[in-house]
Amino acid sequence: MDKITSLAKRRGFVFQSSEIYGGQNGAWDYGPLGIELKNRIAAAWWKEMTQLHDDIVGLDAAILMHPRTWEASGHVENFTDPLVDCKKCKARFRADQIPEDKLAAKQCPECGGELTDIRKFNLMFKTHIGPAEDSASIIYLRPETAQGIYVNYKNIIQSNRMKIPFGIAQIGKAFRNEIVTKNFIFRTCEFEQMEMQFFVKPGTDEEWFNTWRQRRWAYYEKLGVKMDHLRWHQHGPDELAHYAKDAYDIEYQFPMGWRELEGVHNRTNYDLNRHTQYSGKDMQYIDQDNNNERYIPFIIETSAGLTRNLLMILCDAYDEEQVAEKGNDDDWRTVLRFHPSLAPITVAVLPLMKKDGLAELAQDIRKELKEDFSTDYDQGGAIGRRYRRQDEAGTPFCVTVDYQSKEDGTVTLRFRDSMEQIRVPRAELAARLRQEIKAYKRKA
Ligand code: GAP
Repeated sequence: MDKITSLAKRRGFVFQSSEIYGGQNGAWDYGPLGIELKNRIAAAWWKEMTQLHDDIVGLDAAILMHPRTWEASGHVENFTDPLVDCKKCKARFRADQIPEDKLAAKQCPECGGELTDIRKFNLMFKTHIGPAEDSASIIYLRPETAQGIYVNYKNIIQSNRMKIPFGIAQIGKAFRNEIVTKNFIFRTCEFEQMEMQFFVKPGTDEEWFNTWRQRRWAYYEKLGVKMDHLRWHQHGPDELAHYAKDAYDIEYQFPMGWRELEGVHNRTNYDLNRHTQYSGKDMQYIDQDNNNERYIPFIIETSAGLTRNLLMILCDAYDEEQVAEKGNDDDWRTVLRFHPSLAPITVAVLPLMKKDGLAELAQDIRKELKEDFSTDYDQGGAIGRRYRRQDEAGTPFCVTVDYQSKEDGTVTLRFRDSMEQIRVPRAELAARLRQEIKAYKRKA
């Protein structure tokens, strides 16, 4: 993880927030390559969940919601972590992450000092809206995007004539006052979620739950990640969230071990029942195709962290490969083997020399390619070094312009993964790149 964190900073994927002031715990900034990668991961998810499903529509709800929302959802009461402090070294831990024997003996796992009793700590960030800082002005930063969907589900049925079963997808920021934020961007206080809530008739929920589990697994297969680094984890009774009847996590084998990547939850009709109760509004669905049958739908939720997916994609893509045996530093290359459709830069154009019109020709080729692809241009340093820089940024294709290009209109197309180089006529370059992106298969 240290190597990935340092590469992410060096190459402008992720920076520590407010670094010049010593950094802000739990918050990170996404640099030029990071925001491109994040946007592409979000676009892949959005396409999968909306464009490819006729029965799912999108939403972008506000982060700030009426505070009653969080009473109804159960977050004010239940969204807590159990905390303990060490009286000696002052370290703070989540009680559920301390070895059981240490917790039972009230012994600090770091210094052996005495631990305090367990107390519950609510993870929601609280602030005030308006000029008065009193209890009437309390407002929360949303800890999940899901509630914005629930409170809008009837609006969407009416405005878009949706019929059950149907889904609503949303990508957006969420905030949690996390106590333990180590492991880079894995667990942060400010993060982004990609959530989809699927509304179904009671009694069909278990079938839909299984369908969505399969679909979400297939999604990661399509994304081209290492499938032997993914596994399912079913929540035991003491792990289930207050709203869930059944829940499975898709876990990824991160460098620090197996950790949750995404959750698929059967939330039953808990949330809509509670919103009915707290708002006084009728949240029933009226099935006009079925004698106006009325019911509160059950909800199957797929909930993935966007920023956590980005960390997974970085870890999954990271590779160090020996490419020579000369006893030099550059015998090894660091390469990010992103799927080309996720890579922040798709193609880099490199003139072999700056002189003799090669730079101008390369710029001209880049200008043409940038209409369709995310491009980079680099004319500084030895060509081998420039390839390595692109490998480290995860750029799947490099186009090198040389003297032959001036004569016969061909360029060198260099592939990141195999380092193979072929000659391609300039006129065929864009089509060839499109074809390579579509046919891309990662080598095991
Ligand atoms: N709406 C359900 C929900 O929020 P969750 O299991 O608490 O369920 C869903 O969170 C996903 O959001 C997780 O699988 C993870 O990818 C991401 N996530 C949760 N807390 C996070 C945090 N503090 N930092 C980064 N990502 C987080």
